[in-house]
Amino acid sequence: MRIGVLTGGGDCPGLNAVIRGIVRKGTMFYGDSVIGFLEGWRGVLENRYQPLDIDTIAGIIFRGGTILRTSRTNPAKYENGMERIKGAFQTNQLDALIAIGGDDTLGVAQKLFQAGLNVVGVPKTIDNDLSGTDYCFGFDTAVMIATEAIDRLHTTAEAHNRIMVVEVMGRDAGWIATYSGIAGGADVILIPEKPFDIEQVCDLLKHRHARGKYFSIVVVAEGARFANEAEQATQGKTRDEFGHARLGGISSRLSEEIERRTGYESRVVILGHIQRGGTPTAFDRVLATRYGVQAIDMVHRGEFGKMAALRGQQLTAVPLNEALGVNRKVDPELYELASVFFG
Ligand code: F6P
Repeated sequence: MRIGVLTGGGDCPGLNAVIRGIVRKGTMFYGDSVIGFLEGWRGVLENRYQPLDIDTIAGIIFRGGTILRTSRTNPAKYENGMERIKGAFQTNQLDALIAIGGDDTLGVAQKLFQAGLNVVGVPKTIDNDLSGTDYCFGFDTAVMIATEAIDRLHTTAEAHNRIMVVEVMGRDAGWIATYSGIAGGADVILIPEKPFDIEQVCDLLKHRHARGKYFSIVVVAEGARFANEAEQATQGKTRDEFGHARLGGISSRLSEEIERRTGYESRVVILGHIQRGGTPTAFDRVLATRYGVQAIDMVHRGEFGKMAALRGQQLTAVPLNEALGVNRKVDPELYELASVFFG
């Protein structure tokens, strides 16, 4: 078979391991030829790609980013976008395309499938909030990086009697905040699923002070918001081609309010893209490898319009339309457990 691959949306540690899994099993086991479109859907629109063979995937399993690069290109925003993608399919005589991406990238994949193209999806988001699968690769790495940062912030917070407000990624769901907050021993964790009452947050911190703990760690997901405000904190007014605002800055507002209401000195740390950069954990390398091999197997089984998914310990295939549109929120029981350690 002749197969195309692309990586779309924000990058995620483990993307290269997925590509490696696809190419290794595709070329060595099935005798496929594989091409990688560059920079997500942009590369398909412009028919820019590179051949992927056993040499191109050598030594990439431990590399972060993606050898194909990525973008948030939305074909619907371009004249004849979908037609151009169909054209790239024909020109390159593709039998199938594997799209590795989140809700946006896989949404395009689903439309292409509905238009009659053979498409398979691989779920990717650092936020770990895609429905249909229990776990996305890259999330474990982000949690590890955030946890290490929280560990380091503990000692400086303690030395100065300060509140450290740590902002982590998590646009619609607070998976990174909850996991890294539990692992790092955070004193308050704030997530998009539960808009917060600033008075309650301050009460928790005051309670800690009253029992002789003069420093605190507050972990806040970038998408969290004050209960009395409708909007998330954003940076600037620009939106990407899928209509998403650039989030960020909730930690500064939170820190100011905490300082104003409690009198405790407070500092802000925004981890940002550090959480997405660098080498994936062993867990993410293994999970991503499994996703890649599953995706190429799905192509050969003719399981199109579906996404590779992890259910429990098993890799399986779920229809793309089951995975799309519905954000997978943090399990309330897990958040409840985290809150045992608040204050
Ligand atoms: O969707 C994943 C994500 O990492 C979000 O957590 C974050 O809001 C966004 O991407 C950042 O996107 P960009 O890399 O385009 O700034």
